[in-house]
Amino acid sequence: MPLRVAIIGAGPSGLAQLRAFQSARDKGLKIPEVVCFEKQSDWGGLWNYTWRTGVDEYGNQCHGSMYRYLWSNGPKEGLEFSDYTFEEHFGKPIASYPPREVLFDYIKGRMEKAGVRSMIEFSTIVRNVRTLTDGRFELTTRNEVTDTDKSENFDKVIVATGHFSVPNVPEYKGFSEFNGRLMHAHDFRDARQFLNQDLLILGSSYSAEDIGSQCWKYGAKSITVSHRTAPMGYDWPDNWKEVPRLSHVDERTAYFIDGTNKEVDAIILCTGYKHHFPFLPDDLRLKTANRLATADLYKGVVWNKNPSIFYLGMQDQWYTFNMFDAQAWWVRDCIMEKINLPDYASMVQDVVDREEAEAALKDKYAGIEYQGAYTMELIEETDYPKFDIEASNRAFYEYIGHKKNGIMNFRDFGYVSPITGKKAPKHHTAWKDEFDDSLESYLNS
Ligand SMILES: Cc1cc2nc3c(=O)[nH]c(=O)nc-3n(C[C@H](O)[C@H](O)[C@H](O)COP(=O)(O)OP(=O)(O)OC[C@H]3O[C@@H](n4cnc5c(N)ncnc54)[C@H](O)[C@@H]3O)c2cc1C
Ligand SMILES: NC(=O)c1ccc[n+]([C@@H]2O[C@H](COP(=O)([O-])OP(=O)(O)OC[C@H]3O[C@@H](n4cnc5c(N)ncnc54)[C@H](OP(=O)(O)O)[C@@H]3O)[C@@H](O)[C@H]2O)c1
Repeated sequence: MPLRVAIIGAGPSGLAQLRAFQSARDKGLKIPEVVCFEKQSDWGGLWNYTWRTGVDEYGNQCHGSMYRYLWSNGPKEGLEFSDYTFEEHFGKPIASYPPREVLFDYIKGRMEKAGVRSMIEFSTIVRNVRTLTDGRFELTTRNEVTDTDKSENFDKVIVATGHFSVPNVPEYKGFSEFNGRLMHAHDFRDARQFLNQDLLILGSSYSAEDIGSQCWKYGAKSITVSHRTAPMGYDWPDNWKEVPRLSHVDERTAYFIDGTNKEVDAIILCTGYKHHFPFLPDDLRLKTANRLATADLYKGVVWNKNPSIFYLGMQDQWYTFNMFDAQAWWVRDCIMEKINLPDYASMVQDVVDREEAEAALKDKYAGIEYQGAYTMELIEETDYPKFDIEASNRAFYEYIGHKKNGIMNFRDFGYVSPITGKKAPKHHTAWKDEFDDSLESYLNS
């Protein structure tokens, strides 16, 4: 019987896994029987944009957290696939902060070239995973188009369902009496809704920064960002203010712990997401904070307590697509027994070591270097094409400097590709003035 492998999710992580197996097959190796289940009707995960919020067309939790005018918040030189460059896909070098439609096109291009779409069962949600007495797993899936359930057994399961789709929604006193719009970033789609409005944002991380910036760009009257721990500290425009923690709200006014207050039309909770795996039993379910060194995963991917279960992309992310590739190639080689796992105690120690190393990191630069080194560590144990990780790190470092110098114009800079060595051209229009973020417009540099 051939080994049977299930991949749950066809976002960038699950697609990396399919590409990893296909690349081994292309080299003449016998690969396991691989089935990928994807609850949406198309691939690309978060990059498969939807206008829907709440539940999807079948009543399942809507996966999408993307918004309409999103541009990459990090340089594309930090995520480029080393086996499929931006230049190969678009036929020319392109600017460094592609809008979502451009990144989606890039992700799709590689997979179309790989020819793996037939390995995916779309509109099929994994509802339950059960460990069998012989150590295999029974997966119960529902095909939402035919409205039928099916159970199948697999030897290995790879969880690639992402962790930025189930919102972390705190409650503050007075929320139930607030008369304006109150929503989580997960449901944010279109900044134009907030034209001429006074907006309160809770949180001080990427969603707060980027959703606030979008609303500012699209004509919000004012942006007030309340932090729990520390302000973002950028040199914000005049109608943008950072304030301390929210104390409570009443019908229209938000009160902060320093005694100040602000009347607002809407509150957007940019308060992060939960790792959420409702289809997994307790003994297989990852429970971790959003951090660089995830709990209980040897090498960041193997579920210590049962090494037939793997997780991809569960870390907080500087590196994304190329790190998912590194993980997917490594997991493939582990499943195909080219890489052997150590004993349980050594796997546990590996996690402890990574957590301690993360705790010792001094700043963002060190975090980037840490995740770059992790990505390279995995790559060096596989045949994934090596690339100049230092060039990717440098792109991130420069991006941090550009943000410090001008939070509304950091996207106007270009960086050197870690694969082709070429510097990205400037986009034809400054980000803050560019209201057409279609693929056609972006490529017309
Ligand atoms: C708003 C936002 C903006 C971002 N912007 C950037 C950016 O600019 N650059 C960047 O590099 N990264 C960005 N990210 C990070 C993002 O996490 C990665 O780019 C990437 O999408 C992660 O890929 P993934 O495959 O791990 O998860 P996802 O993209 O979330 O894909 C998971 C897939 O699993 C499927 N799935 C879930 N549950 C089930 C189930 N039970 N059964 C079957 N299928 C299931 C989902 O439908 C989905 O297709 C952003 C994240 C957010 C939230
Ligand atoms: N343009 C883009 O590409 C783009 C845009 C948006 C998001 N993203 C991506 O999306 C991912 C998630 O980012 P994120 O910002 O949503 O989540 P995040 O990085 O996990 O940050 C969560 C934020 O919520 C705050 N928070 C949590 N609980 C809170 C509470 N009870 N009260 C007040 N604040 C609270 C945290 O504050 P503390 O600091 O106090 O913990 C933190 O600032 C990232 O990978 C990011 O890159 C990308």
